[in-house]
Amino acid sequence: MKFLFLALLYCMVLSPAAAYDPLDPNGNITIKWDIMSWTPDGYVATVTMNNFQMYRHIGTPGWSLGWSWAKKEVIWTMVGAQATEQGDCSKFKGNVPHCCKRNPTVVDLLPGVPYNQQYSNCCKGGVLASWGQDPTASVSAFQVSVGVAGTSNKTVKLPKNFTLLGPGPGYTCGPAKIVPSTVFLTADRRRKTQALMTWNVTCTYSQFLASKNPTCCVSFSSFYNDSIIPCPSCACGCQNKQNCIMSDSKILHRAGINTPRKDNQPLLQCTHHMCPIRVHWHVKLNYKDYWRVKIAITNFNYRMNHTLWTLVAQHPNLNNVTQVFSFDYKPLVPYQSVNDTGMFYGMKFYNDLLMEAGPLGNVQSEVLMQKDKNTFTLKQGWGFPRRVYFNGQECLLPPPDTYPYLPNTAYKHSLAVSKMAAYVLLLLLCAW
Ligand SMILES: *[C@@H]1O[C@H](CO)[C@@H](O)[C@H](O)[C@H]1NC(C)=O
Ligand SMILES: *[C@@H]1O[C@H](CO)[C@@H](O)[C@H](O)[C@H]1NC(C)=O
Ligand SMILES: *[C@@H]1O[C@H](CO)[C@@H](O)[C@H](O)[C@H]1NC(C)=O
Ligand SMILES: *[C@@H]1O[C@H](CO)[C@@H](O)[C@H](O)[C@H]1NC(C)=O
Ligand SMILES: *[C@@H]1O[C@H](CO)[C@@H](O)[C@H](O)[C@H]1NC(C)=O
Ligand SMILES: *[C@@H]1O[C@H](CO)[C@@H](O)[C@H](O)[C@H]1NC(C)=O
Ligand SMILES: *[C@@H]1O[C@H](CO)[C@@H](O)[C@H](O)[C@H]1NC(C)=O
Ligand SMILES: *[C@@H]1O[C@H](CO)[C@@H](O)[C@H](O)[C@H]1NC(C)=O
Repeated sequence: MKFLFLALLYCMVLSPAAAYDPLDPNGNITIKWDIMSWTPDGYVATVTMNNFQMYRHIGTPGWSLGWSWAKKEVIWTMVGAQATEQGDCSKFKGNVPHCCKRNPTVVDLLPGVPYNQQYSNCCKGGVLASWGQDPTASVSAFQVSVGVAGTSNKTVKLPKNFTLLGPGPGYTCGPAKIVPSTVFLTADRRRKTQALMTWNVTCTYSQFLASKNPTCCVSFSSFYNDSIIPCPSCACGCQNKQNCIMSDSKILHRAGINTPRKDNQPLLQCTHHMCPIRVHWHVKLNYKDYWRVKIAITNFNYRMNHTLWTLVAQHPNLNNVTQVFSFDYKPLVPYQSVNDTGMFYGMKFYNDLLMEAGPLGNVQSEVLMQKDKNTFTLKQGWGFPRRVYFNGQECLLPPPDTYPYLPNTAYKHSLAVSKMAAYVLLLLLCAW
């Protein structure tokens, strides 16, 4: 029975990630083009990118958005973003376009660009918060003036083949679809205007496309058993093992060790799991009506600070969270009937920055949950999470047959029970 349960759990956890995330079934990034005016040879559009994913943000170095023009369009000007390459504009005399490429790639501007280059919701270095953490920061926008294009809603051709990097691979974008024109409210909220034409593109995330190995792992411990259940070995693949750095290495004091690379290539501290992130779940205390879990996140990447980090956990008792200490918490209810998933994220200006690997590279919190007497148990690994995600990436859990046993379920070991375990047993008996 126990085996069956654990085997089921294991299957659930290791199911290949498709472009569908069971914990955020409606999550997507939507890119909306609103044509605001027609020009003699094209149009001016506002492009708005909304991150509707509950817990997956786009971190530095930010998004880049690409597409293919349907005809021979050019970009005359952009406000609030820029094309990464101008391309061949030699056909143009006098006024030279901003970009003549058939398949432009556009990136956000950095914060602090001159006022006249800014656009509302622009210039955040391509960083988009997740919807669950901060809906007001989950939007990015720019304005593009397109030439050599259709000049009416009958002749304009929608761009094709949208691609989104966020900042790495993982997103797949559908075709642009004409949708009802966006309605805008004027600043005094007394008049409505509307776009001349609107189309939407929806992009969804697949972890499988993002990386073939997990990028984080989970380890467990409990007050009732001394053993720490480590992350699985090579949880995140061991192919980079020769490039990792021992934590006591002298190299660490060299300048530049923490400088992020353009390709975002990590520089990891050597561990047996070789994951950039480890999440530790410790079942800390068992009171009469409550129990307490300690959660710690450790960064093993010397080249990455995580801003806007999120941690998602699925556990049946998250329907009854009484208090979360030193993290912000929000229940996620992907399906109306089950309330077993929640997201944790850092408190602003306190621990919303998970620093690079090293002495400061960790954040931690404790969660107090009220027991439901019918379901609560310390047996069979019930106290441990069913799924864990860091920054929207599913973390590899230890195999279920290694979960800590409750000491009193293993009678044959009872003679060898250490003082510590005996103490714990006592504590347990008292608590029950
Ligand atoms: C994208 O996400 C929004 C918000 O969750 C949802 O309303 C919309 O239906 C989604 N779009 C698609 C195509 O899934
Ligand atoms: C188009 O995208 C916007 C967000 O940018 C969203 O609010 C709107 O619901 C989408 N429209 C459709 C029909 O999907
Ligand atoms: C195009 O514009 C005409 C009016 O000029 C309008 O009737 C029509 O619905 C528009 N079509 C689209 C696809 O927006
Ligand atoms: C879009 O991509 C498809 C397949 O990737 C390709 O066959 C097609 O030529 C592309 N279209 C344009 C306009 O680049
Ligand atoms: C992380 O942030 C700290 C403080 O802002 C900074 O000194 C450090 O260089 C950053 N590290 C990386 C890898 O960006
Ligand atoms: C889900 O559980 C949380 C406590 O963790 C509670 O605050 C929230 O009201 C619950 N939501 C639903 C829909 O039951
Ligand atoms: C939390 O647990 C208590 C005690 O079992 C129960 O009365 C209450 O309904 C639970 N709350 C939720 C949201 O499940
Ligand atoms: C603790 O759990 C491990 C399984 O992970 C088990 O091998 C060990 O016997 C347990 N220790 C005690 C004291 O029960």
